[in-house]
Amino acid sequence: MAAEFPFAQLTSNQLTYSERDEGYRRLHAWPEPSYRHDSGLHMVWRYADVRELLEATAPEISNAHALRPLVGFGRIAANPRAVGHLCRHLLPLPAKATADLTDDVLHRRVWATMAGPTGYFTVPADTRSERAEALAEHFRHSLPVSGDLSEPLDVTAASIVYATRVIGETIGLPERVWPAVAEWSGAQSGLLGRRMRGRELADAVGALGRLFTVSGLAVAHSRQHAAGFSGHLHAAGIPPRVAVSVVANSLAAGVHTVSGTIQQGLQRLLGDPDRQWWKLLGEVKGTADVAAKVLQLDPGLVGWKRNIVRPTTLRSGTALPRGPVLVMFGAANRDPRAFADPLAMDSAGKVPLTFGFGRHTCPGKQLAQLAVEVFLRELHNRAPHAQLVGSARSARSRPADLLFSGADIVIR
Ligand code: HEM
Repeated sequence: MAAEFPFAQLTSNQLTYSERDEGYRRLHAWPEPSYRHDSGLHMVWRYADVRELLEATAPEISNAHALRPLVGFGRIAANPRAVGHLCRHLLPLPAKATADLTDDVLHRRVWATMAGPTGYFTVPADTRSERAEALAEHFRHSLPVSGDLSEPLDVTAASIVYATRVIGETIGLPERVWPAVAEWSGAQSGLLGRRMRGRELADAVGALGRLFTVSGLAVAHSRQHAAGFSGHLHAAGIPPRVAVSVVANSLAAGVHTVSGTIQQGLQRLLGDPDRQWWKLLGEVKGTADVAAKVLQLDPGLVGWKRNIVRPTTLRSGTALPRGPVLVMFGAANRDPRAFADPLAMDSAGKVPLTFGFGRHTCPGKQLAQLAVEVFLRELHNRAPHAQLVGSARSARSRPADLLFSGADIVIR
């Protein structure tokens, strides 16, 4: 019987860490370099191909559809409730501003407001420890009110609250809307990587609409008060319509990527019988190494989209037909062609592609790295003997999601 393609049915979001290790191992042993998934996306996972696609310098490789819902606009148009939400919140359609912007001149200006030496999300070395202390405060506020860890702790819920607080504050949103941001950004994430339908699809479009509405309010407010990230965009001369999308895209980008990484990372750290990496969190230098390794192996975002404008052959010889591609960087980070022993802590290898490569590299990278590091360290400090408690639902019952990945983690 022919072997089944390892990611034909299940996504990383539905696998435990050891199943992911095995699935990616089999993927890199697969004889072909690409696979046509029945979502319509062409999957690509080898390190060199993934890097070339993310970099997207050739005219055949486009980022223009990166934020397109997986089900396409046709299915949204055929859903009356979704159309209602679309008309109420999302017309005129939002401007392209970040991941799907193809105007390189405008994109360079926008990207510089977020990343680079003066970027708003940049964490300069001399403010790192101050920033880490502020993140630790967010960690404390993410725990149950009592802060009592003798009861089972739902780490998945706590990590989402934490990431939402971190992103909500960074963007400068009023604290009262932070709890809703998790839901709204979850909707945007879900639309990108899941095949939603019916009521779920309509609700997601509604939530995405509210994300843009609150971003619009923040941008309008900043024009009068020059405050927060929106004020920074205004001062940089970014047109208001573009600024609204920058704010909305950033809100959506940060929450489930950071929290999913924490969830999956803890599944590995606490699930490993030796718990060597968990113990390293107790050492000063250990935390950054563990966070970096978790971001390499178990990122909350495992893939991203590119579009092939006309049939092309990548530098490695991998031929791709016209159409959308799923660029599986979570897989590429374990490619034995690029990493001597990807599952080892001190293994030599190329730069992991978790935060992309090239012009669209994640501007939130430094913040995300620090946020993951602080959460893991703080949790270890408070509960060094934490044990995983069996979750109420199995990994299989999590939704199939081609991009975002997390885990249901409860500890005692
Ligand atoms: C573990 C956490 C994160 C991961 C794995 C991640 C990953 C990525 C990747 C792979 C891209 C590249 C998309 C492309 O090439 O088109 C990207 C872009 C982006 N990320 Fe992140 N990200 C994370 C956290 C964050 C955070 C915390 C923020 C905001 C504070 C953020 C904001 C953005 C934005 C705005 C873009 C679009 C950049 C552009 O196209 O100019 N991300 N991210």
